[in-house]
Amino acid sequence: MTDAKTMLDRIAAAENLGDLEAVRVSALGKAGSITALLKSLGSMDAETRAAEGPKIHALRERVTGAIADRKAALEATELERKLATEKIDLSLPAPETIAGTVHPVSQVMDELAEIFADLGFSVAEGPEIETQWYNFTALNMPENHPARAMQDTFYLEPRAPEEEPRVLRTHTSPVQIRAGESLGGPLYVIAPGRVYRSDSDATHTPMFHQVEGLVIDKAITLGHLKWTLETFLKAFFEREDVVLRMRPSYFPFTEPSAEVDVGWSMVKGRRVVGGQEGWMEVLGSGMVHPRVIANCGLDPEEWQGFAFGCGIDRLAMLKYGMEDLRAFFDGDIRWLKHYGFRALDVPTLSGSVGA
Ligand code: PHE
Repeated sequence: MTDAKTMLDRIAAAENLGDLEAVRVSALGKAGSITALLKSLGSMDAETRAAEGPKIHALRERVTGAIADRKAALEATELERKLATEKIDLSLPAPETIAGTVHPVSQVMDELAEIFADLGFSVAEGPEIETQWYNFTALNMPENHPARAMQDTFYLEPRAPEEEPRVLRTHTSPVQIRAGESLGGPLYVIAPGRVYRSDSDATHTPMFHQVEGLVIDKAITLGHLKWTLETFLKAFFEREDVVLRMRPSYFPFTEPSAEVDVGWSMVKGRRVVGGQEGWMEVLGSGMVHPRVIANCGLDPEEWQGFAFGCGIDRLAMLKYGMEDLRAFFDGDIRWLKHYGFRALDVPTLSGSVGA
């Protein structure tokens, strides 16, 4: 089989990769016909070789090229066939998989990030193991300040005798200082995260979640604080009739300080946010103390701000109707199935609104 036409016909006629490979071996393999021709060059006299050599090489080139082309064509056809016949039905549910749910705390954190992103706030973070400087001192709570005792602090063993014990942060307020230091003014941030206090009953767990809000800018007033909180709580509880009541209070890092209550009403035997049959406290807030502004490295003559801190678990309980805070951290799959959000739902505000 050395005549070019026969070989090219056979290549063109190969209907699959196996047939084509057989043709290739018969021509170009060790014992192939073209290989034999190439070998025969050695025993030719110079003149014959000069005449035959180029023909044999040209034959090999043509056959090699034809095989490559045919191979590409056969592979393309094969792919087409596979694409046309093989289908994976992605809609079939995977059997026996354990479906997780999104924890209500994660859901609420995402809702908060969405609501505040709309108001131009970004999300800031800080460590859960904090120095006493960030957790207390920089927030205008010097050593021996009685306010340190208001928060049942967990202290960590110092790593060296001269080291001041670090603490598990008792609130998200240290992020005020960290964000102020690193980002400067103007500043619009929220800082959601875990906080720790030595306390445990139906409405207190040793670890819980807060969200801090901090605005530092020029000419910021208590009016901006009230509007922001109202806008936030109306969006969060998805009701227009959310009423706020600000009560004078005391926090070392804000002056003046206000505790904020939200009005509730009874619906089918349950207290729901909205209306004003009664009041419950939802957050602490105030105008950032000038000393705190200074501890952020900013000039309090130039910059003012407001801050607030709010329990996330409590927000979740109020919005989604859980009664016992401890259940949030039991890891009981039945509770999660009941209150959790579907794993494939992206937990966004728009996902939860009336949907
Ligand atoms: N950090 C305070 C707390 O945990 C809440 C708060 C934050 C109050 C910001 C005022 C301003 O109780």
